[in-house]
Amino acid sequence: MYDIPLIKPFITDKVRERVLAVLDSGYLTEGPVTREFEERVAHWCGVDHCLAVTSCTTGLELGLRALGVGPGDEVIVPDYTYPATASVVSIVGAVPVIVDVDPQTMLIDCDALEAAITDRTRGVIPVSLFGNPLDWDRLNAIKERHSLFMLEDAACALGSSYKGMMTGSHADIAVFSHHPRKFITTGEGGTVTTRDGELHAFMHSYKHFGMETGQSRAGTQFSRIGTNYKMSNLLAAVGLEQIALIHELLAERRSQADRYLALLADVPGVSLPKITEGGEHSWQTFSVFVENRDAVMAAMREQGIEAQIGTYSLHMHPAYGDNGAVRIHGSMDGSRYAFEHALALPLYHGMTEAEQDRVVAALAGLAA
Ligand SMILES: Cc1ncc(COP(=O)(O)O)c(C=O)c1O
Repeated sequence: MYDIPLIKPFITDKVRERVLAVLDSGYLTEGPVTREFEERVAHWCGVDHCLAVTSCTTGLELGLRALGVGPGDEVIVPDYTYPATASVVSIVGAVPVIVDVDPQTMLIDCDALEAAITDRTRGVIPVSLFGNPLDWDRLNAIKERHSLFMLEDAACALGSSYKGMMTGSHADIAVFSHHPRKFITTGEGGTVTTRDGELHAFMHSYKHFGMETGQSRAGTQFSRIGTNYKMSNLLAAVGLEQIALIHELLAERRSQADRYLALLADVPGVSLPKITEGGEHSWQTFSVFVENRDAVMAAMREQGIEAQIGTYSLHMHPAYGDNGAVRIHGSMDGSRYAFEHALALPLYHGMTEAEQDRVVAALAGLAA
């Protein structure tokens, strides 16, 4: 529909062959291909444990259950994010406490976070939005000071790093999305990483109907109530042939983003987001800030370029009102700024310089 789409999934002949091999094997449920995908993600992140699940959303819920969150607890989340970050807190019966973001990095405002802590606060779900890594020096200091957990919503951030450590290795638990807009896709799906063997064992059991881990089928014991959040061999096969190339894909993405940054640096009416100091961005989304964002976005679309909003400001939606089930804490000015001004530009594997030039020219003609 658009000459230049926002994103194109990276589906090669190798991906097709791998999927066909799974189909031919007849082994379509979770199995050895899923495990290989999990091992690849764990290795990439530098952690011991990874679980493939049905989505980032179910992975976050799994994380909260493993961390023992439930009724009576509060969990702090940023306002500028996809609703899943907060809805999982409600799903486990706790109260999401929504705080503002820094309008330049679009990441959780650590001062606002600390101001929202009460004696009911169990932890935080910070979001490495668009692939911009979180400031783990600050988050870990807050974690220690207040004895909190950190469950990272790293939906967009596979491949980013902070001070040399990969996203997925900082938090108690981190969760990636493999939705087609994300860096490595399985169609729908997610992966959960942790260094903690006990959290991993709980999550493994919970996503397998509550089965005790490491038991033969004959001796199966269901030691807790659980559910089915498994990723099939079929979907894992799609991700596996992409993550095998993650070094190359990330290098390409970074050079495309650097080119956008250079071309857009002096364009009147366009300002660039701030990368976390000490961090390396993975550029799942490349966004800029413009005035009259909606008009600019509509005009770019008319020219065949699929520009998009960044994400949502939760407090602006009826489901996330300050109503007892959800708590809104402090001003939401940073989030509102990002919501009204952020414009995501096309960026995908194989995007040509000519395509980028066309995006930049269109934006420059509209933003001034
Ligand atoms: C920040 C964030 N968290 C969670 C999600 C949900 O991911 P999934 O679709 O894999 O459940 C998204 C999806 O876009 C997201 O951007």
